[in-house]
Amino acid sequence: MEPLELLIIAVVAVAALAIILSRRSSYKSHVQQLAPAKPKRQLVVGTWSREEVAKHATADDLWLIIKDQASGVAKVYDVTDYVEEHPGGMAIMYNAGGDATEGFHGPQHPPTVHELLKDYCIGTLAHA
Ligand code: HEM
Repeated sequence: MEPLELLIIAVVAVAALAIILSRRSSYKSHVQQLAPAKPKRQLVVGTWSREEVAKHATADDLWLIIKDQASGVAKVYDVTDYVEEHPGGMAIMYNAGGDATEGFHGPQHPPTVHELLKDYCIGTLAHA
């Protein structure tokens, strides 16, 4: 085989390897984003008033009311442990301590996010 042919084969092989490796690592980081650690603290489950939810409106103590689209039931979520992991950054704070239904059901969230949210549920909203 000519040295030039060998060189071309080697270049193509290295390029193919580089493409495969870069796809694998971006796939992995995407999967990690969608499967973060579960809540680190023990969550207290109950029925909460809007006033109580509103007391938890900071990045280190964040509760959100999110209405379930199918059932219409307003549920309360303690997403404190998720704030730092949120791929959308501080957008998760837009309705801190209040109703974040609209923000949560926005086009930025794939259906898998609904599964993730379940882990943070701390009950339902009273009189909703
Ligand atoms: C309620 C208010 C929320 C707002 C306004 C919001 C906003 C956003 C935005 C703007 C992005 C896009 C980031 C980007 O692509 O650059 C995003 C991504 C994401 N958010 Fe939220 N978020 C909210 C709540 C949540 C909650 C409560 C969870 C989960 C418990 C969550 C999970 C995610 C995930 C997994 C992504 C990445 C989606 C993907 O790239 O496939 N978000 N969010």
